[in-house]
Amino acid sequence: MQQTVVRVICAIGQSGQLGLNGELPWEGNRDPEYVADVARFFDITRGHVLIAGPKTIGAVPEFARTDRTLFVLRSHMDPEETLKQFAGRVVFIGGGPPVWDVYARFVSHWDITRLPYDGPADRWFNPKWLTAGSHPGPHGATT
Ligand SMILES: NC(=O)c1ccc[n+]([C@@H]2O[C@H](COP(=O)([O-])OP(=O)(O)OC[C@H]3O[C@@H](n4cnc5c(N)ncnc54)[C@H](OP(=O)(O)O)[C@@H]3O)[C@@H](O)[C@H]2O)c1
Repeated sequence: MQQTVVRVICAIGQSGQLGLNGELPWEGNRDPEYVADVARFFDITRGHVLIAGPKTIGAVPEFARTDRTLFVLRSHMDPEETLKQFAGRVVFIGGGPPVWDVYARFVSHWDITRLPYDGPADRWFNPKWLTAGSHPGPHGATT
């Protein structure tokens, strides 16, 4: 069977900020590093599959909707079955946090940009995603 490559590309603030009020916490910031980060996200995911929760997919701008496969994840969907649909493709897991809580264990490559932002957030990066395995950890924890 063809392999599915599962990756993440995301951006965080200095303390792990991911989101605020349904947007990126630094939304609208036109400083070069923020503009470059968004451009890089759309460059790297072009031609591939981006699967994410409804809010995250809803925030994909019109220009990026035709040159990649977008798929809205819902919590009733089985992760293994969902990924099987994209056998042979590169699949980016786009978040938000409840999605990464479940799909982190399938990810082979995390691409995280750490931006200079250090303001408020209501969605945060969880470093445990990086070590999420399907087996209990050394202290019996799975997350
Ligand atoms: N900085 C970054 O790189 C980055 C990346 C992504 C998102 N964000 C930010 O994060 C925020 C959006 O994320 P969000 O979490 O609020 O909303 P979201 O993108 O809609 O993702 C969460 C939703 O995904 C659904 N879902 C699908 N599969 C699931 C599963 N297996 N387990 C649990 N839930 C599952 C759930 O909705 P149902 O129960 O209704 O199905 C859940 O409420 C925004 O502020 C956005 O800007 C930032």
